[in-house]
Amino acid sequence: MKQRWQRRWLWSLGLVLSVCSILGWGLGAWSQGADPAQPSLGRLRLGAELYVQRCGSCHLPVPAQTLSTDTWRVLIQDINHYGIQLQPLPKLDFNLIWPYLRTYSRPIRPGETVPYRLGQSRFFRILHPGVELSQPIGLGSCKSCHPAAQQLDYITLVPNWQQFLTPTAP
Ligand code: HEC
Ligand code: HEC
Repeated sequence: MKQRWQRRWLWSLGLVLSVCSILGWGLGAWSQGADPAQPSLGRLRLGAELYVQRCGSCHLPVPAQTLSTDTWRVLIQDINHYGIQLQPLPKLDFNLIWPYLRTYSRPIRPGETVPYRLGQSRFFRILHPGVELSQPIGLGSCKSCHPAAQQLDYITLVPNWQQFLTPTAP
């Protein structure tokens, strides 16, 4: 009689242990999905939308890929902003905007200076192969070629964008 009870008890213990390990595995997999280093597409899209709201109200939203990750890390935490003062980003907004900026930008190379102007940014230059932009490059100029820039859409181009190029000597 005593032995049967013992066996039953062992069985239950085994069952509990396997349920726990399955749960543990599931939790592990789930938390990997929620890894902040790898945000989901939905979260990135939300971050981009919030970015347009927070950082696209005074000027066009500057697309993440045009400056370095190092630039963004500083810009979104500094209330001193090119001669004016910004409201600090609320923590919740920061937690969504930062993954968007980090995911779509690249770090500078060792020894390279952090670019704070598009005109100094090789990331911006690389996105415009063969496109001679007029200097100085200001955020007011993007719209002439990128009509949907206010929505962070820099893929759509006006059909006659070549007319906004700086004329180069033949
Ligand atoms: C209250 C208005 C305002 C808000 C909000 C604002 N900016 Fe600016 N931003 C400015 C001004 C003013 C300049 C300087 C323009 C100049 O000197 O050409 C500037 C310049 C910039 C530049 C430099 C562009 C260049 O190449 O010259 C970047 C990048 C930038 N802002 C990013 C951001 C980001 C990121 C946010 C959100 C955290 C943001 N801005 C929010 C007013 C604002
Ligand atoms: C004279 C027209 C012109 C102006 C002005 C211009 N661009 Fe562009 N931009 C282009 C063209 C053309 C391409 C596509 C280049 C290619 O892929 O060969 C492009 C590509 C881009 C891309 C890459 C889009 C993608 O995801 O494939 C970004 C980002 C971008 N531009 C941002 C800007 C910003 C920000 C400004 C303003 C500071 C700006 N551009 C001003 C013509 C322009």
